[in-house]
Amino acid sequence: MTTALWKGGPSQAPLPPMMQGLPIIGNALEMAQDVLKCMVKGYRAHGPIFRIRALADTYTVIAGPEANMFFSREQGQHLRSKEFWAGIDQEMEANITLISSDGPEHTELRQIAKRGYSRSLYEAHFPEVVAITRQKVEAWPVGETRSVVPWVQEVVTEQLGQVIVGTSVGDYGKDIYNFIRTALVVLITRQRPGFLLKMPAYQNARRRSFELGEKIIAFHRANPPTNRPRNLIDDALDAVAAGHILKDGDLVPFALGPYIAGLDTSSNSIAFMLYAVFKYPEILAGIQNELGGLFANEVPAPGDLRKMDVLHRTALETLRCYPVVPAIQRTVTEPFEFAGHRVEGGGRLFIATTAVHYDEKYYPNPEKFDIDRYLPARNEHRTPGVFAPYGLGTHSCLGAGLAEAQIMMTIATMLQFGKFVMVPADYTLKVRPLPTNAPANNFQLKRVG
Ligand code: HEM
Repeated sequence: MTTALWKGGPSQAPLPPMMQGLPIIGNALEMAQDVLKCMVKGYRAHGPIFRIRALADTYTVIAGPEANMFFSREQGQHLRSKEFWAGIDQEMEANITLISSDGPEHTELRQIAKRGYSRSLYEAHFPEVVAITRQKVEAWPVGETRSVVPWVQEVVTEQLGQVIVGTSVGDYGKDIYNFIRTALVVLITRQRPGFLLKMPAYQNARRRSFELGEKIIAFHRANPPTNRPRNLIDDALDAVAAGHILKDGDLVPFALGPYIAGLDTSSNSIAFMLYAVFKYPEILAGIQNELGGLFANEVPAPGDLRKMDVLHRTALETLRCYPVVPAIQRTVTEPFEFAGHRVEGGGRLFIATTAVHYDEKYYPNPEKFDIDRYLPARNEHRTPGVFAPYGLGTHSCLGAGLAEAQIMMTIATMLQFGKFVMVPADYTLKVRPLPTNAPANNFQLKRVG
């Protein structure tokens, strides 16, 4: 495949083929219902480059391993993040944020945030992580059936608060969730209309979220990290004091950043994995078998989590089958040619990073949930560009290691301190698409011990 980057005069290459869609609305409905399914359909029908239409807008999509490698290598040169995230920046009253910045500014911010979002930071907080998760399990009465996603969201919100921004979310949990979710569905995934941002309930959740952000900053200013571990906020305050790129006014959005990046993504991935755990009894048995090693010393050590083989392979297969960020969007700053077609400047590009997760060339029988794909003899995810749940290149998920540990540790702790069954036992997963794919609320577990 050619990935020519042409300089100079207009490209003679044809435009990418257009995906079939409905009259007038094009592919808008398919996209609103399930982005991943729509992208996989286009990739299977047209290969590595095609266009989709949603009402009056047309977008180019690139997909497959070469597209992923191209994106990983070249995004800084031809693509820009800013426009896609601009609405959230405005809503957060942020001058600059990690996800929406590009070039040297982005590199500097990423350096500031790196330690605070690291796996080792999360691992250093295993005692709190276990205590939070265990407390939420024990608050779930035996005999009660609950929707899984809202419960997991509570656990994840509290973990992100205590571990990354050093502050319990307390009774701000629902506000944070309502604020972020509404802002994302209106401004980023555009699945809901703009008037929702004017509604009093949203405005109240937004105000309360800012209030939490201010409390987080005030706490860290008043309590420097002399007798407690450093975290993301201490690093941000140091950067402000040093006169680096961050200014005082950027601190509240910075403090809310972990919730924007991690709340839905991590919660939904944990919920999808719980579905797999309870759908396939051999997976549940395999994980339960490993728990003894993890909790032998009350609080697990980082090395013990890394030894959890079935738990780890189930997490990888969950991220392949149920990627919560199925595609990434960028503005094309410089035109280029890809796979024999031209991509014009100024438009919006979808990089369908996870469409290849369903390519049978790399994952035989791709619809099957099969954790043996990750055994050393097969290692199907190791071909470059075929496994991209966390994105690729300069903006790839800064919390990827943390998220993996969070997914594994939360599920391990839940299974260690509670016994659950799926209700009904033969439930088949339904997916809801807001703001990104998640199990529907009728995915329920009953605590039985
Ligand atoms: C399974 C869970 C997760 C998935 C699938 C995921 C996926 C992603 C993806 C695809 C991106 C790239 C977005 C882009 O290029 O536009 C991203 C960025 C990011 N993620 Fe995650 N994420 C997860 C969990 C988390 C968690 C728990 C945190 C931390 C609390 C986090 C922090 C970040 C940050 C800070 C960025 C921005 C990086 C940058 O712009 O340089 N993520 N994530």
